[in-house]
Amino acid sequence: MAGGRARVAVSILDADHSNMAYAIRRAQREGADRFHIDVMDGHFVPNLTFGPKMIKGIRPRTQLPLDAHLMISDPLQYMDEFLDAGCDSVTFHVEVDPDQIEPALRKIRSAGRAPGLAVKPKTPLTALEPYRGLFDIVLIMTVEPGFGGQSFMKDVAAEKILAAREYLGHKPVEGEVHVDGGVNRESAEFVGGLGVDILVVGSVLWIKGRNMGREIRLVRALADEGYQYRLNDGKPPIPRDAMVTFAQLPKALAWAFMADIEKGGIPVIPLRGTGRFNPDGMRDYDLLIPASAEALAEQRHAADRERYLGDAERWREAYAAEFGVKPPETLPPMPTGSRAGRRTAPADSPPPS
Ligand code: DX5
Ligand code: ZN
Repeated sequence: MAGGRARVAVSILDADHSNMAYAIRRAQREGADRFHIDVMDGHFVPNLTFGPKMIKGIRPRTQLPLDAHLMISDPLQYMDEFLDAGCDSVTFHVEVDPDQIEPALRKIRSAGRAPGLAVKPKTPLTALEPYRGLFDIVLIMTVEPGFGGQSFMKDVAAEKILAAREYLGHKPVEGEVHVDGGVNRESAEFVGGLGVDILVVGSVLWIKGRNMGREIRLVRALADEGYQYRLNDGKPPIPRDAMVTFAQLPKALAWAFMADIEKGGIPVIPLRGTGRFNPDGMRDYDLLIPASAEALAEQRHAADRERYLGDAERWREAYAAEFGVKPPETLPPMPTGSRAGRRTAPADSPPPS
């Protein structure tokens, strides 16, 4: 996984469609972060590509995320098939029949995938307003949808990319703004400077003789540089996948605090790591959050953390007074290839008599 915050979604639109498996393998080897799959119906756009069956075929050939970009008039009609094909996210256009939009977004969400809405260059972002909270991806089209290889519309990017973040307040960490159309090393720094998360890159990667890996690395690095100097006071961006420990607490309290934090859209990973031993013989759990959300979590939850730490102290004292202090729990060695043998005695279970 790359450092930095920008990620490249490789569009396969201009790959050799007769040899898609090879195209996927090659792009993955060259450092693609994920795939962007353009579905066109010859009706919503004046071009035809492929459908869910192609995506289903691609699915077992890569572990990388698959983002579907549906440029079709009836997304709801085919949604089950796209979900069944194994897309990690499905983005369709806000310009389709309005009656389909909410049910289609809800269907994607309830399948556990990320729902997205795309906006054509001439559509104002305010078209997204009625669906706030129902989508986690905003895809800004910087060309008229339909074909790869068109030139980048800088004015559209300037008007919409930063502003799109405003629609993702419910997902402070995992919400994503994508830019699609004409992205290359010339436009990467500009869109990075507007805080775009995902750069969709198509035709420039598939030009014969072009070094695809170098192109991907350049686009990513230039986008991060744009971000650093336009939005981040000259500081390098926090790597997208970096995690930090936000609190260390006994299990029962850790679980409660985790639920509080996650309610606000910040994901938490609980880990039994290096925390102190408690009188019940169990270590404190580390609550890990994405480093990029640390400032927000401090702002929202620093006071709660103090309260939880105080509760933890009181719980330790009460436990020790009632049951004494148990020796630290020792974990048996993990069987290779599985976590099945791991002993987990929850801190909130009744203590042994
Ligand atoms: C256009 C598609 C894009 C296209 C981008 O309708 O949505 O994903 O593949 O290709 P380039 O990078 O060539 O503009
Ligand atoms: Zn696309």
